Amino acid sequence: MEQSTKFASRKRHLIAGNWKMNGLLEDAWQFIDALGDNPAPDHVEVALMPPFTLLHPMAEPLRQKDVRLGAQSVYFEKSGAFTGSVSAMMLRDIGCHYVILGHSERRDIIGESNNIVHSKLDAAWNAGLEPILCIGEHLEERKTGKTNAVLAEQLSVLEAASADASLTVAYEPVWAIGTGLTATPEQVTETHAFIHSELARMGHDCRVLYGGSVKPDNTAALMVCPGVEGALVGGASLQAESFNQIIQAAASVATGE
Ligand code: PGA
Repeated sequence: MEQSTKFASRKRHLIAGNWKMNGLLEDAWQFIDALGDNPAPDHVEVALMPPFTLLHPMAEPLRQKDVRLGAQSVYFEKSGAFTGSVSAMMLRDIGCHYVILGHSERRDIIGESNNIVHSKLDAAWNAGLEPILCIGEHLEERKTGKTNAVLAEQLSVLEAASADASLTVAYEPVWAIGTGLTATPEQVTETHAFIHSELARMGHDCRVLYGGSVKPDNTAALMVCPGVEGALVGGASLQAESFNQIIQAAASVATGE
Protein backbone atom coordinates (compact mmCIF):
# COMPACT_ATOMS: atom_id res chain seq x y z
CA MET A 1 0.00 0.00 0.00
CA GLU A 2 1.48 3.33 -1.01
CA GLN A 3 1.00 5.94 1.68
CA SER A 4 2.02 9.57 1.86
CA THR A 5 4.51 10.63 4.50
CA LYS A 6 3.40 12.14 7.78
CA PHE A 7 2.53 15.81 7.57
CA ALA A 8 5.51 17.64 8.96
CA SER A 9 3.61 20.26 10.94
CA ARG A 10 1.15 17.89 12.61
CA LYS A 11 2.12 19.09 16.07
CA ARG A 12 0.17 22.27 15.54
CA HIS A 13 -3.52 22.32 16.45
CA LEU A 14 -5.81 21.90 13.45
CA ILE A 15 -9.07 23.81 13.17
CA ALA A 16 -11.05 22.29 10.31
CA GLY A 17 -14.41 23.59 9.08
CA ASN A 18 -16.90 21.10 7.68
CA TRP A 19 -19.57 22.91 5.69
CA LYS A 20 -21.58 19.73 5.08
CA MET A 21 -24.26 20.29 2.36
CA ASN A 22 -24.22 24.07 2.68
CA GLY A 23 -22.93 26.92 0.57
CA LEU A 24 -23.41 28.43 -2.88
CA LEU A 25 -20.78 30.36 -4.84
CA GLU A 26 -21.99 33.66 -3.41
CA ASP A 27 -21.53 32.31 0.15
CA ALA A 28 -18.03 31.14 -0.72
CA TRP A 29 -16.95 34.60 -1.94
CA GLN A 30 -18.46 36.33 1.09
CA PHE A 31 -16.74 33.85 3.42
CA ILE A 32 -13.39 34.32 1.73
CA ASP A 33 -13.68 38.12 1.96
CA ALA A 34 -14.70 38.01 5.60
CA LEU A 35 -11.97 35.54 6.55
CA GLY A 36 -9.40 38.33 6.33
CA ASP A 37 -5.89 38.24 4.91
CA ASN A 38 -4.16 36.07 7.45
CA PRO A 39 -6.66 33.77 9.18
CA ALA A 40 -4.14 31.04 10.10
CA PRO A 41 -1.85 31.98 13.00
CA ASP A 42 1.63 30.40 13.06
CA HIS A 43 0.79 27.70 15.59
CA VAL A 44 -2.65 26.71 14.31
CA GLU A 45 -3.32 24.97 11.02
CA VAL A 46 -6.62 25.91 9.39
CA ALA A 47 -8.53 23.80 6.87
CA LEU A 48 -11.91 24.04 5.19
CA MET A 49 -14.08 21.28 3.75
CA PRO A 50 -16.74 22.90 1.53
CA PRO A 51 -19.10 20.79 -0.61
CA PHE A 52 -17.68 19.25 -3.82
CA THR A 53 -19.10 22.07 -5.96
CA LEU A 54 -17.05 24.71 -4.12
CA LEU A 55 -13.74 22.85 -3.90
CA HIS A 56 -12.30 24.09 -7.15
CA PRO A 57 -13.46 27.71 -6.95
CA MET A 58 -12.27 28.01 -3.34
CA ALA A 59 -8.96 26.20 -3.77
CA GLU A 60 -6.79 29.11 -4.90
CA PRO A 61 -8.29 31.85 -2.66
CA LEU A 62 -7.90 29.55 0.36
CA ARG A 63 -4.36 28.61 -0.62
CA GLN A 64 -3.47 32.30 -0.70
CA LYS A 65 -4.70 32.59 2.89
CA ASP A 66 -2.74 29.51 3.98
CA VAL A 67 -5.98 27.57 4.59
CA ARG A 68 -5.81 23.93 3.54
CA LEU A 69 -8.54 22.44 1.40
CA GLY A 70 -10.35 19.21 2.18
CA ALA A 71 -13.29 17.20 0.85
CA GLN A 72 -16.09 15.72 2.93
CA SER A 73 -16.05 12.30 1.30
CA VAL A 74 -14.58 10.30 -1.58
CA TYR A 75 -15.32 7.12 -3.50
CA PHE A 76 -12.83 4.29 -3.10
CA GLU A 77 -12.48 3.25 -6.77
CA LYS A 78 -9.84 4.96 -8.89
CA SER A 79 -11.96 5.71 -11.98
CA GLY A 80 -14.60 4.18 -14.22
CA ALA A 81 -18.34 3.64 -14.44
CA PHE A 82 -19.36 4.91 -11.01
CA THR A 83 -21.95 7.56 -11.84
CA GLY A 84 -22.03 10.41 -9.37
CA SER A 85 -18.80 9.48 -7.61
CA VAL A 86 -15.58 11.41 -7.10
CA SER A 87 -12.19 9.70 -6.78
CA ALA A 88 -9.34 10.50 -4.43
CA MET A 89 -7.08 11.41 -7.34
CA MET A 90 -9.68 13.92 -8.58
CA LEU A 91 -9.62 15.58 -5.15
CA ARG A 92 -5.84 15.62 -5.10
CA ASP A 93 -5.81 17.02 -8.64
CA ILE A 94 -7.71 20.16 -7.60
CA GLY A 95 -5.58 20.77 -4.53
CA CYS A 96 -7.24 18.90 -1.66
CA HIS A 97 -4.98 17.94 1.22
CA TYR A 98 -7.60 16.37 3.49
CA VAL A 99 -10.63 14.15 3.13
CA ILE A 100 -13.13 13.48 5.93
CA LEU A 101 -13.95 9.78 6.26
CA GLY A 102 -16.40 7.94 8.49
CA HIS A 103 -18.41 11.00 9.52
CA SER A 104 -21.43 9.87 11.53
CA GLU A 105 -23.79 11.47 9.00
CA ARG A 106 -22.31 9.20 6.30
CA ARG A 107 -22.37 6.18 8.57
CA ASP A 108 -25.95 6.77 9.82
CA ILE A 109 -27.71 8.43 6.86
CA ILE A 110 -25.85 7.01 3.84
CA GLY A 111 -25.14 3.65 5.49
CA GLU A 112 -21.34 3.66 5.20
CA SER A 113 -19.91 0.62 6.94
CA ASN A 114 -16.51 0.24 8.56
CA ASN A 115 -15.49 -1.87 5.54
CA ILE A 116 -16.28 0.97 3.18
CA VAL A 117 -14.43 3.43 5.41
CA HIS A 118 -11.46 1.04 5.29
CA SER A 119 -11.48 0.99 1.46
CA LYS A 120 -11.75 4.76 1.37
CA LEU A 121 -8.76 5.14 3.70
CA ASP A 122 -6.63 3.12 1.30
CA ALA A 123 -7.89 5.12 -1.68
CA ALA A 124 -7.10 8.40 0.10
CA TRP A 125 -3.59 7.30 1.05
CA ASN A 126 -2.87 5.97 -2.43
CA ALA A 127 -3.75 9.38 -3.88
CA GLY A 128 -1.67 11.27 -1.30
CA LEU A 129 -4.60 12.68 0.70
CA GLU A 130 -4.61 12.88 4.49
CA PRO A 131 -7.76 11.27 5.89
CA ILE A 132 -9.56 12.77 8.88
CA LEU A 133 -11.12 9.62 10.29
CA CYS A 134 -14.23 10.44 12.33
CA ILE A 135 -15.29 8.18 15.16
CA GLY A 136 -17.93 8.60 17.85
CA GLU A 137 -20.58 6.89 19.91
CA HIS A 138 -24.34 7.41 20.01
CA LEU A 139 -25.94 8.61 23.26
CA GLU A 140 -27.43 5.19 24.01
CA GLU A 141 -23.98 3.62 23.61
CA ARG A 142 -22.45 6.10 26.05
CA LYS A 143 -25.28 5.58 28.54
CA THR A 144 -24.80 1.82 28.43
CA GLY A 145 -21.02 1.95 28.85
CA LYS A 146 -20.23 0.93 25.26
CA THR A 147 -18.28 4.04 24.23
CA ASN A 148 -14.82 2.49 24.23
CA ALA A 149 -15.99 -0.67 22.46
CA VAL A 150 -17.64 1.39 19.70
CA LEU A 151 -14.56 3.58 19.26
CA ALA A 152 -12.22 0.58 19.22
CA GLU A 153 -14.34 -1.04 16.51
CA GLN A 154 -14.30 2.15 14.40
CA LEU A 155 -10.53 2.50 14.90
CA SER A 156 -9.91 -1.11 13.90
CA VAL A 157 -9.79 0.02 10.24
CA LEU A 158 -6.31 1.29 11.09
CA GLU A 159 -5.03 -2.06 12.33
CA ALA A 160 -3.11 -2.93 9.16
CA ALA A 161 -2.18 0.60 8.15
CA SER A 162 1.44 1.75 8.05
CA ALA A 163 2.58 3.72 11.09
CA ASP A 164 3.87 6.35 8.66
CA ALA A 165 0.47 6.89 7.11
CA SER A 166 -0.57 10.52 7.12
CA LEU A 167 -3.60 10.60 9.41
CA THR A 168 -5.80 12.73 11.65
CA VAL A 169 -8.55 11.26 13.84
CA ALA A 170 -11.60 13.25 14.97
CA TYR A 171 -13.57 12.17 18.03
CA GLU A 172 -17.14 13.34 17.49
CA PRO A 173 -19.73 12.05 19.95
CA VAL A 174 -22.80 11.67 17.71
CA TRP A 175 -25.06 13.14 20.40
CA ALA A 176 -23.01 16.37 20.35
CA ILE A 177 -23.14 16.97 16.58
CA GLY A 178 -25.43 19.84 15.65
CA THR A 179 -27.26 19.60 18.98
CA GLY A 180 -25.59 22.35 20.99
CA LEU A 181 -24.52 19.70 23.51
CA THR A 182 -20.80 19.18 24.04
CA ALA A 183 -18.98 16.49 25.92
CA THR A 184 -17.71 17.68 29.31
CA PRO A 185 -13.95 18.29 29.68
CA GLU A 186 -13.80 15.10 31.80
CA GLN A 187 -15.53 13.04 29.09
CA VAL A 188 -13.30 14.56 26.38
CA THR A 189 -10.10 13.97 28.37
CA GLU A 190 -11.01 10.40 29.25
CA THR A 191 -12.14 9.51 25.74
CA HIS A 192 -9.14 11.10 24.03
CA ALA A 193 -6.83 9.18 26.37
CA PHE A 194 -8.53 5.95 25.30
CA ILE A 195 -8.27 6.88 21.61
CA HIS A 196 -4.58 7.76 21.90
CA SER A 197 -3.90 4.48 23.70
CA GLU A 198 -5.69 2.48 20.98
CA LEU A 199 -3.76 4.37 18.29
CA ALA A 200 -0.47 3.74 20.11
CA ARG A 201 -1.30 0.03 20.41
CA MET A 202 -1.64 -0.06 16.61
CA GLY A 203 1.59 1.91 16.17
CA HIS A 204 -0.03 5.22 15.23
CA ASP A 205 0.91 8.56 16.69
CA CYS A 206 -1.45 11.08 15.16
CA ARG A 207 -3.38 14.20 15.93
CA VAL A 208 -6.84 13.68 17.52
CA LEU A 209 -9.42 16.45 17.09
CA TYR A 210 -12.66 16.97 19.00
CA GLY A 211 -15.90 17.69 17.14
CA GLY A 212 -19.52 18.29 18.12
CA SER A 213 -21.05 21.75 18.67
CA VAL A 214 -17.67 23.49 18.90
CA LYS A 215 -18.40 27.23 19.17
CA PRO A 216 -16.27 30.32 19.91
CA ASP A 217 -17.26 30.29 23.59
CA ASN A 218 -16.41 26.63 24.30
CA THR A 219 -13.31 26.24 22.11
CA ALA A 220 -10.72 27.15 24.75
CA ALA A 221 -12.22 24.80 27.36
CA LEU A 222 -12.15 21.93 24.85
CA MET A 223 -8.68 22.68 23.45
CA VAL A 224 -7.03 22.65 26.89
CA CYS A 225 -8.17 19.06 27.49
CA PRO A 226 -5.13 16.76 27.36
CA GLY A 227 -4.95 14.82 24.10
CA VAL A 228 -7.05 17.31 22.12
CA GLU A 229 -5.14 18.79 19.21
CA GLY A 230 -7.76 20.74 17.35
CA ALA A 231 -11.40 20.76 16.34
CA LEU A 232 -13.67 19.67 13.54
CA VAL A 233 -16.26 22.43 13.35
CA GLY A 234 -19.60 22.15 11.57
CA GLY A 235 -22.23 24.87 12.03
CA ALA A 236 -19.87 27.49 13.46
CA SER A 237 -17.57 27.23 10.42
CA LEU A 238 -20.23 28.54 8.03
CA GLN A 239 -19.71 32.14 9.10
CA ALA A 240 -16.19 33.54 8.83
CA GLU A 241 -16.70 35.56 12.02
CA SER A 242 -17.34 32.57 14.28
CA PHE A 243 -14.77 30.43 12.44
CA ASN A 244 -12.15 33.14 13.00
CA GLN A 245 -13.08 33.38 16.68
CA ILE A 246 -12.61 29.62 17.07
CA ILE A 247 -9.20 29.81 15.35
CA GLN A 248 -8.17 32.66 17.66
CA ALA A 249 -9.36 30.78 20.76
CA ALA A 250 -7.34 27.73 19.70
CA ALA A 251 -4.31 29.95 19.02
CA SER A 252 -4.54 31.43 22.53
CA VAL A 253 -4.50 27.93 24.01
CA ALA A 254 -1.63 26.86 21.75
CA THR A 255 0.50 29.82 22.82
CA GLY A 256 -0.60 29.66 26.45
CA GLU A 257 -1.93 33.24 26.39
P1 PGA B 1 -21.31 20.73 14.51
O1 PGA B 1 -20.78 19.60 13.49
O2 PGA B 1 -20.11 21.58 14.88
O3 PGA B 1 -22.34 21.48 13.73
O4 PGA B 1 -21.86 20.02 15.69
C1 PGA B 1 -19.54 18.96 13.69
C2 PGA B 1 -19.31 17.92 12.64
O5 PGA B 1 -20.27 17.25 12.25
O6 PGA B 1 -18.18 17.74 12.18
